[in-house]
Amino acid sequence: MISKSLTISVAASAVAVAGWSILAGFAPPQAAQTDVVSVQVDRPGAAISPTMFGIFFEDINFAADGGLYPELVKNRSFEFTEALTAWRKLERSDAEGELVVRNQGGLNPENSHYLRIRVYEPRNGFGASNAGFRGMGIQSGAEYVLSAYVRSTGPNSPKSLQVEVGEGAPLGKATLTGFTPQWKKVETTFRATGTSPRARLSLVMTEKGEIDVDMVSLYPKETWKNRPNGLRKDMVQLLADLKPGFVRFPGGCIVEGRRLENRYEWKKTVGDLAQRKLIVNRWNEEFAHRPAPDYYQSFGLGFFEYFQLAEDIGATALPIINCGMACQFNSSETVPLDQLQPYIQDALDLIEFANGSATGTRWGRLRAQMGHPAPFNLKMLGIGNEQWGPRYVERYKRFAEVLKKSHPEIALISSSGPGAAGKQFDYLWSNLRELKADIVDEHYYMPPKWFLSNATRYDKYDRNGPKVFAGEYAAQTSGTARPDNRNNWEGAIAEAAFITGLERNADVVHLASYAPLFAHVDAWQWTPNLIWFDNLRSYGTPNYFVQKMYSTNLGSHVLPVTVNGAAENGQRDLYTSASLDRKSGETIVKLVNSGAAGRTVRVDLKGATTVKGPGRRIVLASSDLKIENTLDQPTRLAPVENALSVSSPAFDVTLEPHSMTVLRIPTAR
Ligand code: AHR
Repeated sequence: MISKSLTISVAASAVAVAGWSILAGFAPPQAAQTDVVSVQVDRPGAAISPTMFGIFFEDINFAADGGLYPELVKNRSFEFTEALTAWRKLERSDAEGELVVRNQGGLNPENSHYLRIRVYEPRNGFGASNAGFRGMGIQSGAEYVLSAYVRSTGPNSPKSLQVEVGEGAPLGKATLTGFTPQWKKVETTFRATGTSPRARLSLVMTEKGEIDVDMVSLYPKETWKNRPNGLRKDMVQLLADLKPGFVRFPGGCIVEGRRLENRYEWKKTVGDLAQRKLIVNRWNEEFAHRPAPDYYQSFGLGFFEYFQLAEDIGATALPIINCGMACQFNSSETVPLDQLQPYIQDALDLIEFANGSATGTRWGRLRAQMGHPAPFNLKMLGIGNEQWGPRYVERYKRFAEVLKKSHPEIALISSSGPGAAGKQFDYLWSNLRELKADIVDEHYYMPPKWFLSNATRYDKYDRNGPKVFAGEYAAQTSGTARPDNRNNWEGAIAEAAFITGLERNADVVHLASYAPLFAHVDAWQWTPNLIWFDNLRSYGTPNYFVQKMYSTNLGSHVLPVTVNGAAENGQRDLYTSASLDRKSGETIVKLVNSGAAGRTVRVDLKGATTVKGPGRRIVLASSDLKIENTLDQPTRLAPVENALSVSSPAFDVTLEPHSMTVLRIPTAR
C-alpha cells in the first residue's frame, strides 16, 4: 500500500454541526444528494473472526512448480510421461553422444527413472540442457545451488560435470565433482553475473564416458525466511503483505483429481524430496484454449511446506482433503462407502501430522524429522472440494462421524457445490444444516453485476445454522472461466462492494478468500487471478488491493451501519460496512462508491463522545473501470493513504468516482 501520510487539505467542506467541525477531502464532480452513513459506534455487534480474510492456494496456472516453488529445473527427476520433457541434447562442435532415460537401479521405486549421459566424442562439450518453466529466472548477483544425485558407471566415468546457466551468453558456471559408483547427492553454488527471465541450465561433459544423473536441481539460495526447500521470496512477500488469516491448500479441483488416481494424496507429498512421486497436474489439458501438457506436480511444495508457509506468514493452515470423490465435472469417480476408510484415515493421520506429539506418534515424528517438532496447531479441515449430491452428503457424514468423535477441536468445512444458488446448493445446505455442519464452503465465479446485487446476500442468512466460508470468489468480467476475463477495476470494485456484505455479516461469514491466487503470465490456464508473475517479477491486481484493504483493516467487532436510515446496502451505488478495532479504539468504515460520479457522504458516528486526533483514509480509485496492473506497472492502481483530519463524530467525506475508501477514526465512545 502506498502511504503518502499527508494531511488532506480542506479544499471543500468545513461544516459545523452541533459545534463539531468537520473536515473532508478534495472535491471531484459530485452526485447531488448527500447520503448519510450512520455507524452505531457504541453498539458493537458480533466479533469478527481474526482469520476472516485469507488465501486460497491451488496449483493451477503454474502456481507451485514454476511459481511459488522456486525450483528452476522442470522434470528434474525424469519422471514425466515423455521422459525428456524440457530436456534436450547439447552437442558443441559436432560432439557425439546419447541421452538415455533408464529405470534400472534408480534412486527408489517412487522415482525410478534417471538420465544416463553417454559421451562418444566430447569435442567442445556434450550434455543435456533444461528449459525450465518457460525459461529460468536468473538474477544478477544472486546465489544459486546446483545439486544432483550422480553415479559413475565404471572406472572410466568422467570425474566432473560442468554446469552452465545462461541465455546464449553464460550467466553462471560451476563444476560438480565427487562422484561414486553409488548414488550420491553432490552440490555446488555459484553467483549469477547477469539477469535473464529465460535462461537455460546445461550439464556439459568434456570427457568420454558415461554418467547417471537424477533429481537435477537449480535452486535460488535466498528463499522466504531462507527455509531449506523454501519458497520464492517476492511471491511470498505479496502474500505476507495481505496479513492473511488463513491459507487454504492445496485447492480447489486439484484435491479431487480428474480421476481418483490423480487426486491429491498428502502423504505422497511429505518426507524426502526424492521420494515424492510426481503426478500429472489435472489442469494440464483441462481447457482446450490453454493446454499445458508439460504441467506436472512434483510435490516439492508439499503439505509440510504449506503448513510452514502458513505459519511463516502468521496464518492458520486450512487443508482440504479428498472425500472419496473425483471431480464431478470430469470422471466423477466415487469410492464405495465400504471402501472409504483409508480416506478417513488420511484425515486422521493428517491431524496427527499437524498436531501430534513429535516423539509419541508416527506422523508427528515425521513432522519433527522434517524440521518442525512443535505442532502446527491445525484447527480447521475441509472435507472435499466442490462436491455435490447425495453421494457427497453420505461421504461427508462418514468423515464427520469419525472426526467429531476423535477430534472435536477441529472445525470441519463442507461443500455447497460449485454454484452460488440452485437446486444442488439448496439440497446441500438443507442436509448440512440438519447434520449440524460447522462451516459450509460457498463458491461464486459470477459477473460483476452479480457481486453488486449480492452485497446483501448474507443479511438474510440463518443466524443459527452452519457458518459460511466464502471460499472461492472472483468477478468474471467476460464469463465463468473464460480466457478473456480480466483482472480489471470493473471486477475488483464489484468484489469490494460485495465484501461489505461479508463483513457486515461476520457473525455468519467466518472465512473468505479470492480464487485462484497465482498465475504465470506465460503458462496460465485460468483467469482472473489475484497475483500474476513471470520468472522474476510478480504483482498484485486491483482485486489483490481490494482484498488487502479488507484484510489489513479488519476490526474486531461489527458495528451496525445504516444508509439514509435504512439497513439495506447498495442504495444509489453506495455500499458500506463498519467495524470497531477494540485494540486501537478506532472505528473503521468502508465505503464503496460503484457509481461514475464523485459524491459527498456524511458519516455519522452515533454514540461517539469524541474523535481523538487524526485518522487515516485509504483510497483505491479509478474512473477507468478497465484499468489493470501489469508486470511493468505493478501499482498503476493501488491504494493511496493519507492522514484524515476529523475532529467531530459527524463529518463529510468525498468519495471519488468508482472508489473504495477505508476510514480509520480514533473514537471515544
Ligand atoms: O479456482 C479454480 C477452480 O474453480 C477451483 O479449482 C475449483 O474449486 C473451482 O471450480
